[in-house]
Amino acid sequence: MGKGKAFIGIGMLCAVMTLCAGCGRQEKDDKVESIRIGVTVYDQYDTFVSQLMESFKVYARQKTGETGIAINIDVYNASASQSTQNAQVEEMLEDGCDVICVNLVDRTEPTTIIDMAESKNVPVVFFNRELVAEDLERWNQLYYVGAKALESGIMEGEIAAQAFKEDPSVDKNGDGIFQYVILEGEAGHQDSIVRTEYSVSTITDNGIEVEKLGYAIANWNRAQAQTKTAQMLNEYGKQIELILANNDDMALGAIDALKAAEISPEEWPVVVGIDGTDVGLESVKSGEMAGTVYNDKEGQARGMLDLAYALATDQDTSELNLEDGKYIRLPYQKILSEDVYQYLK
Ligand code: GAL
Repeated sequence: MGKGKAFIGIGMLCAVMTLCAGCGRQEKDDKVESIRIGVTVYDQYDTFVSQLMESFKVYARQKTGETGIAINIDVYNASASQSTQNAQVEEMLEDGCDVICVNLVDRTEPTTIIDMAESKNVPVVFFNRELVAEDLERWNQLYYVGAKALESGIMEGEIAAQAFKEDPSVDKNGDGIFQYVILEGEAGHQDSIVRTEYSVSTITDNGIEVEKLGYAIANWNRAQAQTKTAQMLNEYGKQIELILANNDDMALGAIDALKAAEISPEEWPVVVGIDGTDVGLESVKSGEMAGTVYNDKEGQARGMLDLAYALATDQDTSELNLEDGKYIRLPYQKILSEDVYQYLK
């Protein structure tokens, strides 16, 4: 078992068993019988990322069914350590993976991985945690699969603005100003930065004045969000009319705090999230969250798989319509309670 290898059994997910046919890249003219994809995730306990990986496995099985080519996938958990992740990539390259998919721990530190992959001529598909464009330019076999970050903030702001306009009781003190707190994901993550800025600017663009009471960084994490929200409830209490969370898990943590404080649901602030994870969708369905924004994990998983497959089998990637030859970015979708049934499994 490799260093920190997290999810077992995935290597055997292929419908067609690979005997020793092989991991190494095969010559173009040989018929490819199997490919090996190495994946490392920044934290296997992140709800959205783990659901994205589930979809990735589903599409890999489908692709094997369609093509007859066995797809072996090794998934490693970097447990929030960039040096662990670098060592995992080294191991995957030694194991002969044909392509590596990397959910960077530190999106500003891709250099070691890029250099190692380039020296072995193995393409890298980065996903979900976006490196800066200059780093993606460092070699012509680097790609990124993610989402259109800006949209998520805008849509979250639109959901909040709609709630304020449609229901006068949302403005608890009746001053015409939307008093809010915000729960932010990891500092420096592209989605935290963009969602924080655009959710708020979209509310004001919709003609609603806002007042920021407080904010907290809760690292995408439900338990941290509960603790931080409890502190803000102590400080601002009923003044809070809106809780904007950079993702669903933190919105759910905020709701945990509202429940723990025994605040009756009619008194709750509007709570909005992003992701549309299974638990997030359930919360929108029950009316606890006013809405969420769908982060298309199926689309991203399919994009990653199609791209990794094309690279591993030396196929032309032009059919994949990559932006600038390097990017796949999926759009977001707004989910209010009336839309939730289309998304629930
Ligand atoms: C975001 C997602 C968060 C978290 C983060 C990890 O796109 O909305 O919930 O998973 O990625 O990088």
